[in-house]
Amino acid sequence: MSKAKLDNNVTGFNVIKRAARIGAEVVNIKLSGDLSDETIKAINDTLLEHKVVFFRDQGHLDDDEHERFARRLGKLVPHPTMAVSKGTASMIELNSERCGSRADFWHTDVTFVDAYPKIAVLRGVVIPPFGGDTVWSNTAAAYLGLPKPLQRLADELWAVHSNAYDYTVMGNASQADRQHFDEIYTRTIYETEHPVVRVHPETGERTLVLGDLVLRFVGISKYDSQKLFDLFQSHITAPENTVRWNWKQGDVVMWDNRATQHYAVNDYGNQHRVVRRAVIDGEVPVSVESRRSVMRIKSAKQAQAS
Ligand SMILES: [Fe+2]
Repeated sequence: MSKAKLDNNVTGFNVIKRAARIGAEVVNIKLSGDLSDETIKAINDTLLEHKVVFFRDQGHLDDDEHERFARRLGKLVPHPTMAVSKGTASMIELNSERCGSRADFWHTDVTFVDAYPKIAVLRGVVIPPFGGDTVWSNTAAAYLGLPKPLQRLADELWAVHSNAYDYTVMGNASQADRQHFDEIYTRTIYETEHPVVRVHPETGERTLVLGDLVLRFVGISKYDSQKLFDLFQSHITAPENTVRWNWKQGDVVMWDNRATQHYAVNDYGNQHRVVRRAVIDGEVPVSVESRRSVMRIKSAKQAQAS
């Protein structure tokens, strides 16, 4: 019996793969905070297997019901520096008409803190007629695809992640975006040392923890760090390890933030685009040698002086 049929017998929904290594669409389900424990477990199992899960036609959700559903998968947490929407526990709005919302660089969310979110649940509120897709990559598949000597190297490496990364990676960021970055996003500077390979707490898989919030590798010069970063990151973003989603209004997409990176394609010009995201608290990453990530908080002034 296929997994989809098994799921369907238990929960009433079906799972349709969207690419070989990552991504599945779940159909025949109406998301809410009132789903059975069995259905929530099946959704979590589907997420662990496919890393990113897509749901069409969830236009009935408002912020409250969106968070009620997300809360069934764990504790909701606010962003460390950005304000959450009024009346919500964790909801961030990414609005193309406001600053700092075009995340057109490869990253895992909020890796500048130690226990970064484990799951994000994103809802399409205003979707332009063309452009604005999101691409996700499977960082467990990327690790598995490395030749053994590079796996061993990755197992040993640690990297420093910060919210005060080089914002030239923000592509064509406007003056207003840069001001938002300086005044809101980096009003407190965080730096966290993560293992480049973490052991996933639920699946036991080894996943790569990198992305454009990385400043450098621990104990390696900036020059050599950049070359190593490019090498590992190129495996993460190889097209075979990715899936691309063309949003429609009312879509909900969930991803396992411990096993993915994502990239918001900035190809919708001046069209209006709004998505809203609830996030679920994560665990402090653990290396293959059972060492935990370490976070340091620096004030903005200290960071500028150093
Ligand atoms: Fe993101």
